[in-house]
Amino acid sequence: MTDYQLLIQQMESLAEDSSDIIPVMANVSALLFHSMENINWAGFYLVREDFLQLGPFQGKVACVKIRKGHGVCGTAWAEDTVKLVPDVHAFPGHIACDSDSRSEIVVPIHRNGEVAAVLDIDSPVLNRFSTDDAAGLKALVSSLEKIIM
Ligand code: SME
Repeated sequence: MTDYQLLIQQMESLAEDSSDIIPVMANVSALLFHSMENINWAGFYLVREDFLQLGPFQGKVACVKIRKGHGVCGTAWAEDTVKLVPDVHAFPGHIACDSDSRSEIVVPIHRNGEVAAVLDIDSPVLNRFSTDDAAGLKALVSSLEKIIM
């Protein structure tokens, strides 16, 4: 199981040098990518008017724009909810950036009370993410929200 409390401490300590959204998100994607087992993509999409735009990430190249309400990321944004998808092939409209991906979790990130970005993590393993991962990532995101406020 991922030690989310440790990741949060590491993120907060890295953010002491800069709370600018780009270096913070770049380091968080590297932290997650190299700390979590069985994942093949970890990164961010940023809200831009009516679409999400690719932000800092680790993993294979990914689609640059996602429309609101589309895919797992666009749905998490539109519904402002965490999307835990045990089997991406069973999610209508899933956007396959990496054909190796089998499961996915997306957590909305808020600024001034609105969704400003999403954290997206993909796994090549079916049913990789548990409700404990969802809780850990929500805690990490709420600490991230305070950093980038
Ligand atoms: N699978 C996502 C698209 C982003 S990639 O996984 C990096 C989706 O359905 O929104």
